[in-house]
Amino acid sequence: MLRIVVCVSGGGTNLQAILDGIDCGRITNTQIIAVISNNAGAKALSRAEGHGIPGILMSPKEYEDREAFNRAFTGKMCELDPDLIVLAGFLVKIPRQMVERFANRIINIHPALIPSFCGVGYYGLKVHEKALERGVKLTGATVHFVNEGMDEGPIIAQKAVAVEEDDTPQQLQRRVMEQAEWILLPQAIDDIANGRIRVVDGKVKKSI
Ligand code: GAR
Repeated sequence: MLRIVVCVSGGGTNLQAILDGIDCGRITNTQIIAVISNNAGAKALSRAEGHGIPGILMSPKEYEDREAFNRAFTGKMCELDPDLIVLAGFLVKIPRQMVERFANRIINIHPALIPSFCGVGYYGLKVHEKALERGVKLTGATVHFVNEGMDEGPIIAQKAVAVEEDDTPQQLQRRVMEQAEWILLPQAIDDIANGRIRVVDGKVKKSI
């Protein structure tokens, strides 16, 4: 059984897709052992509690400085000792020591086709604003492993989504979630839980 911790900052619709995936059997062999949020008001924490999953608040604001937060956050993760950490809209930079400790065991969902519209400053609605500003006709979502870089780890899965001419950032965000994110992330977790994903020379190999 793959024991996962899901980290979320906001609405938690991707967390909901994971919860639904486990409930309906689209994700097998997987148990969420905790949900961590940096935001006390995150709807994700109440979604977790509704499922009897412990919700843990870990905010940088509650620590003297970033280093103290990084130590506490990594310490909490080591205590939970998950097989996989899932960043489902988590807007806090993962401490280097956690990336090292959980190498190839942290995945992230990003709302664009990496390497487009990613890196520092590209998160949430901003990603879709930039895509519309640039006038791309296709965007999408990417699930990838997390390394020391920003949105730079090995890519697990991607799905393209069409941009419509009169899209607002909110409309595009919703379409990318519905057509890509809520499908890709549960699928990637199921693939990892069932041993279908390997990282070879910095690239992901998937077996059927
Ligand atoms: C999602 O669109 C996710 O891809 C994005 O934040 C949103 C969270 O929504 N993540 C990033 O931008 C990471 N760089 P949710 O809380 O409803 O799942």
